[in-house]
Amino acid sequence: MKVKDSVLNILKKDSTKYYSGAEIAKILCVSRNAVWKAVKSLEAEGYLIEGINNKGYRLLGDADIITLEGINNYIDDKIKSKLNIKVYKTITSTNTILKEFANQSEAEWTILVAEEQSNGRGRMNRVFYSPSSTGIYMSVLLRPDFDAKESMFITTMTAVAVARAIDKICNVESSIKWVNDIYINNKKVCGILTEASMNVELNKLDYAIVGIGINVTKPKENFPEELKDIAGAIFDDSNVFDNNIRNKLVAEIITNIYNFYNTFTKHEFIECYRKKSFLIGKEVYILSDLEKTPLKVIDVDENAALVVKTKDGIVKKLSSGEVSVRICEK
Ligand code: BTN
Repeated sequence: MKVKDSVLNILKKDSTKYYSGAEIAKILCVSRNAVWKAVKSLEAEGYLIEGINNKGYRLLGDADIITLEGINNYIDDKIKSKLNIKVYKTITSTNTILKEFANQSEAEWTILVAEEQSNGRGRMNRVFYSPSSTGIYMSVLLRPDFDAKESMFITTMTAVAVARAIDKICNVESSIKWVNDIYINNKKVCGILTEASMNVELNKLDYAIVGIGINVTKPKENFPEELKDIAGAIFDDSNVFDNNIRNKLVAEIITNIYNFYNTFTKHEFIECYRKKSFLIGKEVYILSDLEKTPLKVIDVDENAALVVKTKDGIVKKLSSGEVSVRICEK
C-alpha cells in the first residue's frame, strides 16, 4: 500500500482527531517529509485536509471520493496512456453526455465517471437511481471495428469485466443475471446499459457507449420504496474496509474491459459469463407472457443465449434482444 493510502487510512480512523506529522510518520515508519508529501497528493486528489501548526492533520468532509488521480493510481501505465478519463461530481447522465462527445468525433476510450447523476437512465427507458457518494456511474466510448453482429457481445463482455472487478476488489462473489445485471445476495447491485450508433453502409458500429451503474454502499437515504425489494449494494453498511474502493473498482473495470476488448472476437469472456450465471437452475418466465409459463433455465450458450426447457421437455433458446425474463416466485 502506498504511503498516501496509509496516511488516508489513519486520518479516516477518527476525523475529529488531529494526527501530527511525527505521529503518522512513526506509525508508518516513514519520514515526516514523506507524510507531508502524502498529504499534498491527497489534497491534489480532492481530499479536504485541515493542517494546523503544532496540532497536526485532520480529515474534513467525505473521505471516499472518485478522482482522476485516484483512478489512475490503479491503472497500468501501458493502458493509462490510451485512455481519456473525465471525472464529474455530478452530471445528468454519463451515457447521454458521452453520446454528445461521440457525435462530436471524440476518440475511443473516452470514459466519463461521475459521483452522482441527476438523470441516470436504465434499460427500457427506466430511471437509474444515481445518488451521490455511494455509487459509481461510468460510461466507456468504444469504436469497434468488428462486424455489427458481434455487437451483442459488448454487454456480455462488460458484465464479466464488472463482475470480476467487483469480486477481486471487494472480496465478494457476484453473479450475472442474464443479460446485464450483477447480483449479490439475490439483490441487483449493478446494471449495464449499452447504446450504439450504427453505420449501415459499412455494417459496423460507428460507436458503442457502455454505461455501468453500481451501488457500492447503500444510499444515505436508503433506496426508494419501489426499489427496496430489488436493489442492493456491494457492501451492506457504509463501513467499507478500504477508503479507496471506488477508485480501485473503476480502475479494475476499465482494465478488464480493455483487456477483453483486445481479443474481443475470441469471446474469451463467455465461459466466465456462463459460470457466473445467476439464472441457471432457476425457473423463469418471459416478461411479455401474461400466463407466466415457467421455463427452467438449463444453460447459457456460446452466443450468450439463455437455454430453457418447457414443462413438456422442449428446449428453446432465448436471445437477449428479443426477451426479458423474470424469476418465478416460489
Ligand atoms: C439497467 O439496469 O437498466 C441499466 C442501468 C445503467 C446505468 C448506467 S449509470 C452510468 C450510465 N449512465 C446512465 O444514464 N445509465 C448508465
